Amino acid sequence: MIVVENMVKAFGGFHAVDGASLTITEGSITGLIGPNGAGKTTLFNVIAGVLQPTSGTVTMQGQDITGLPPHALFHRGLLRTFQIAHEFPSMTCRENLMMVPGSQSGESLWNTWFGRKRIADEERALRARADEVLDFLTVSHLADHKAGQISGGQKKLLELGRTMMVDAKIVFLDEVGAGVNRTLLNTIGDAIIRLNKERGYTFVVIEHDMDFIGRLCDPVICMAEGRVLAQGTLAEIKANEQVIEAYLGTGLKNKDQVAGA
Ligand SMILES: Nc1ncnc2c1ncn2[C@@H]1O[C@H](COP(=O)(O)OP(=O)(O)OP(=O)(O)O)[C@@H](O)[C@H]1O
Ligand SMILES: [Mg+2]
Repeated sequence: MIVVENMVKAFGGFHAVDGASLTITEGSITGLIGPNGAGKTTLFNVIAGVLQPTSGTVTMQGQDITGLPPHALFHRGLLRTFQIAHEFPSMTCRENLMMVPGSQSGESLWNTWFGRKRIADEERALRARADEVLDFLTVSHLADHKAGQISGGQKKLLELGRTMMVDAKIVFLDEVGAGVNRTLLNTIGDAIIRLNKERGYTFVVIEHDMDFIGRLCDPVICMAEGRVLAQGTLAEIKANEQVIEAYLGTGLKNKDQVAGA
């Protein structure tokens, strides 16, 4: 579904992504792991059009999408969430979902004069969809809560919810489980699996929690120092010498994460 070839993203003389190549298979939940600073988020940003690549190409279903802006990718069904959730804090959770740009007619002059009924109908449909999404994520009770006041984990759920307001094809999740308690993490995991099975979403999941990766992802791709080190099942990745070395080099915490999974 997505093919990344020889991707390089330089910041000054430093190559955060340094010749990464990988393939994301349609229908998969692919895990992207690697020590802190490996270039995972930067790679996501380049694929999702947030950053321009220095060199390299990205194709989606055979079409070159290299360097297309996020809104153009959005219309093709390529969405990403952020490592740090970015909700509108003073709006309710429902309103946050309703803000996702999608198929609204918008506020053209024509619509203002002639489309009042249509806009009202659309708003009702949008509201119903937002409520469905909240229900799917088992957080209907948060619909009228201000998004700035829900927990960090619930914000992550809301981020995932945003991807459900449109017909996504492929969703890139950047540490959707970071700082989230076990129960909520399971809810997020369940939602990802259901979206994958029932709606055919392809996912690419960056995560440091190896239990979460192990439960959801096949295959798993491991990056270090801007490059792809290995791809395989989590068991294969964990047994890979280069992977172990990459994690060892970054200290105990990460090593235990990968070895203890
Ligand atoms: N805008 C930037 N300017 C300069 N350096 C950057 C920039 N963004 C990222 N980097 C550097 O690029 C490297 C890769 O960063 P990136 O955020 O992609 O890593 P990551 O794999 O997502 O790490 P983490 O697991 O900690 O989120 C890091 O060394 C980081 O400091
Ligand atoms: Mg990151």
